[in-house]
Amino acid sequence: MNNNKTISGFSKLTKSEKLTWIEAQFFDDNSSMSEVLKEYWHSVDAKQDVLDGFSENTISNFPMPYGVAPNFMINDVHYLVPMVIEESSVVAAASAAAKYWLPRGGFKTEVLGTKKVGQLHFKFSGGSDLVHRLFPVIETYLIDGVSDLTENMRKRGGGIVNLELIDFTSEEENYYQIRGQFETCDSMGANFINSILEKFGHLLKTFILNHDEVAEADKDVQVIMAILSNYTPDCMIRASVSCKIEELGMFAGGIDCYEFAEKFATAVKIAHIDPYRATTHNKGIFNGIDSVVLATGNDFRAIEACGHAYASKDGKYKSLSYCDVSDGMFKFWIDLPLAVGTVGGLTNLHPMAKISLEMLGSPSAEELMGIITTVGLAQNFAALRSLVTTGIQQGHMKMHLQNILIHMNASQDQIAKADKYFEDKTVSFSAVRSFLDKKITNL
Ligand code: MEV
Repeated sequence: MNNNKTISGFSKLTKSEKLTWIEAQFFDDNSSMSEVLKEYWHSVDAKQDVLDGFSENTISNFPMPYGVAPNFMINDVHYLVPMVIEESSVVAAASAAAKYWLPRGGFKTEVLGTKKVGQLHFKFSGGSDLVHRLFPVIETYLIDGVSDLTENMRKRGGGIVNLELIDFTSEEENYYQIRGQFETCDSMGANFINSILEKFGHLLKTFILNHDEVAEADKDVQVIMAILSNYTPDCMIRASVSCKIEELGMFAGGIDCYEFAEKFATAVKIAHIDPYRATTHNKGIFNGIDSVVLATGNDFRAIEACGHAYASKDGKYKSLSYCDVSDGMFKFWIDLPLAVGTVGGLTNLHPMAKISLEMLGSPSAEELMGIITTVGLAQNFAALRSLVTTGIQQGHMKMHLQNILIHMNASQDQIAKADKYFEDKTVSFSAVRSFLDKKITNL
């Protein structure tokens, strides 16, 4: 093995050359890494080219399970929801929650806002009074100066909603921010917002340079950066379920609807009290959210960052969902800031994302916000229902058992027998190994 682990011009190598170099530098001599990675290349070159176009230095594709959760009724419309997730039980849990709520009226969603945010961060030495006084004129100058960039969006009903000057000089000398709100219709809007903000930066410099009231020494505005904010508390969606308590039915372990409702509400309350629990509680919500976000070609990092920032808005990290049990009613809901698109970006380029959106009936961005958030709520419902009744391991272990059996190359017959055998036993790698070892000789 050659020990030269650094390289220049790596990006210029072909994919095969990249693999050869990687294998030589980072793997054992007898490694089959190249063959394994090549097995995951798309058989159609043109399709592989599309995938390679999304990123840099690609050497293969990384497959993730693409599943569907049926029986979602959202605002009286039936959906089959595509989910990309590697964790077992998530799709099963979403499907179970969807089916549970189907005869109870399904899920309702309400868009509470659709405004996205962008920021121009700059330093100005001419003083707060002057910049505040000039801001109304600056605002008009900036908006007029980007009218070419906003024209199409304005035709579609979007554009710049407002601009605000924020004075941070008490925290950082001469630091101000222009915070804008934008309507981006069915697109997520990152490119639209960032292009506008960067142009704002140039326009602001020109404006200050040419303005009579600004002293010569203060004319050099320093633009620090121009970028959208992934925190979008005014791009907000609510998803909810509700029914009479007695309509909740009976639960595993003989738990009746009243005990269930009370335990469930307490579980949600605990996630409002304790950040340790809130983190796991919200992680379960994002199991559902991320999987639909991924399947539809949206940006799960942006959505995670926003959701967790919102969960901390009161100065303490809390549950994103709420439960109210009163006046004979069970109500469970989530409020979530969520910026997604159904046009532009990967949504139109990734062949699987396109299929996912078609599967969902080609939704608008607002509808997609509702679908994604509903799946998050469904996931949370399913997790809490298990946690306050049977515990989570029963369902998890069934899937875990399947994974272990497949990993151990069990036959269909062995899988069927193992399913039965482990119905009332603890699943572990060693327990499955000894089950197979014992049974293999008996079969
Ligand atoms: C596991 O991926 C998610 C859960 O831990 C969520 C929860 O505890 O609420 C089951």
